[in-house]
Amino acid sequence: MKEIKIFSPATIANVSCGFDVLGLALESIGDEMIVRKTSEKGVKIVKISGQKLPLEVNRNVAGVAALALLKKANVTTGFEIEIVKKIKPGSGIGSSAASAAGAVWAINKLLGNPFSLIELVQFAMEGERLASGVAHADNVTPALFGGFTLVRSQEPLDIVAIHTPTDLYATVIHPQIEIKTADARKILKETVLLNDAVKQWGNVGGLISGLYTEDYDLIGRSLHDYIVEPVRAALIPSYAALKETAIKSGALGCGISGSGPSVFALSKGKETAQQVAKAMHNVYENTGIAFDIHVSKINPTGINILESN
Ligand code: HSE
Repeated sequence: MKEIKIFSPATIANVSCGFDVLGLALESIGDEMIVRKTSEKGVKIVKISGQKLPLEVNRNVAGVAALALLKKANVTTGFEIEIVKKIKPGSGIGSSAASAAGAVWAINKLLGNPFSLIELVQFAMEGERLASGVAHADNVTPALFGGFTLVRSQEPLDIVAIHTPTDLYATVIHPQIEIKTADARKILKETVLLNDAVKQWGNVGGLISGLYTEDYDLIGRSLHDYIVEPVRAALIPSYAALKETAIKSGALGCGISGSGPSVFALSKGKETAQQVAKAMHNVYENTGIAFDIHVSKINPTGINILESN
């Protein structure tokens, strides 16, 4: 293979109770990337469509992640990257992660898979470091592994792929305002109350158990965040109304997607997820803020090849 075109999915990080550790991949939203081998060594970003982002390799998350991989690879060729950006930066559904994870996944494929998925996570995290100042792994991991993932430990990196119930759907509303992850992290408190931590780890355990046993009620009971959401909710216009209406419309739970402004709800079945989308639409149409809404199945496989030659 000399060239591949891939789909790199949008992702929802945190999933309410798992700040910086839980994430899931979406099926119907994502970027496309074309990566090809070149005789000239190094990495070049030759084209970005859909968004205005830097072509300079050192200033682009895909470029930085690709360089991190090439530093560890024994290669005589180089790579050219084209990005068809469909996920808006600052949307809260893993825009930087899709580019960083997509670049390293595609290069690894073209090299004949010398690196494991966990090594690819490590390279892609360098892109996250550039985007937000923190090399968090909770978006790049589900993009690379698919499904639900848990970053059990960041140092050393320990990743657990979690079973995804077959009938689980996500509804995501993206208000067209930008929240930079770096800014949304600055406002968080550095310490948590023991009482909140107890409730939070109860929910993380409950959510993981609910996902494995396909116990949708338990999943719903566990989708609460006592630590980060109370601080970040103020950044998202009409957040409380969105959440209330999503739950009333049958969602199992609703929370901030990553660092926002996107808000996600999880539902059992596509029909309920669509009802939730309609209800969220009704809440937002009078705010004067442009928005889009997606309904997506959880993506079981993560990044995939669209074309190759
Ligand atoms: N866990 C990160 C945060 C995800 O919430 O800051 C950013 O998408």
